[in-house]
Amino acid sequence: DLARINALMFQAPIMASLMRKFLTRPPGRILEIGAGDGTFMLKVARRMARDWRQVELTMLDRIGLATPKLAADFAGLGWTIETITADVFDWAERADGRAFDAITVNLFLHHFNDAALLRLFSLLRPKAPLILATEPLRAGFALVAARILPAIGVNDVTRHDAVESVRAGFRG
Ligand SMILES: C[S@@+](CC[C@H](N)C(=O)[O-])C[C@H]1O[C@@H](n2cnc3c(N)ncnc32)[C@H](O)[C@@H]1O
Repeated sequence: DLARINALMFQAPIMASLMRKFLTRPPGRILEIGAGDGTFMLKVARRMARDWRQVELTMLDRIGLATPKLAADFAGLGWTIETITADVFDWAERADGRAFDAITVNLFLHHFNDAALLRLFSLLRPKAPLILATEPLRAGFALVAARILPAIGVNDVTRHDAVESVRAGFRG
């Protein structure tokens, strides 16, 4: 369901356009938080790889879902991946390695209230100069679109989650 929703919302092309706009030089290292099964970022990488070769991508999620096939798909683009299975807050409190050129995040920040977001951004601030986020728009038309998702056969969890995600989304 999430893969289809990402496609319907044009999340990968939107993220790719943000990357082109805000990262004017090819990045060496990117961190993705709340990366899920990694298929979203693979779609983004496919759009960027012609111009950005040899990117080191670190994908963090509290559920470890990456597969050898995923690593091979990225390798085919010239990108290397590292996966981290951890809660982002726990990881950010402890991690002190090399900084990243950017942190990317798709359909993740809306999980958190303002206090948690402030804490998250404060923890991530020393780790990269830039965060690129593609999140739900808290708007009437997005709520209507979320409510008609059953038309494409999404499951009960997604029916609930889509509406709640729009309500928890962002403006401005
Ligand atoms: C809506 S999914 C989005 C996944 C992916 N970005 C995508 O577009 O396919 C949100 C993801 O955030 C992860 N997540 C939620 N809270 C987390 C936390 N505190 N630390 C790390 N990952 C978390 C979940 O496991 C899930 O994979």
